[in-house]
Amino acid sequence: MRTLMGDDLRDLCRPQDIPDGDALGFPPAPGGFTGLMAVRQGETVIVYLNSCPHIGTPLDWMPNKFMSLDKRFIICATHGAEFEVADGKCISGPCKGDFLEKVPFELRDGTICVAANAGL
Ligand code: FES
Repeated sequence: MRTLMGDDLRDLCRPQDIPDGDALGFPPAPGGFTGLMAVRQGETVIVYLNSCPHIGTPLDWMPNKFMSLDKRFIICATHGAEFEVADGKCISGPCKGDFLEKVPFELRDGTICVAANAGL
């Protein structure tokens, strides 16, 4: 995990706020258009831009609904592309082989923090 420099950070949530095997969405930074999503598998949390590499639409079909029914994949609501949780690689759909964009974060006092301008 890359270390973020400085104090210009945005708090997302605590890891335990994300149900294990599921994901939460977060709004764009002020002035931005692209939200974020954080997915948790056990002790592992990964933050991605909430933007499909196909045409850039948000991934969730309802707030915080990012996952396949079996919770194995992140799904794009627009055309149904499936992404690996661990690395964001699209394994089926129109953007097969492309990746979701990871967002660096760090834990500060138990809270997931990203750069304040993440997604801008
Ligand atoms: S916008 Fe995500 S698969 Fe088309």
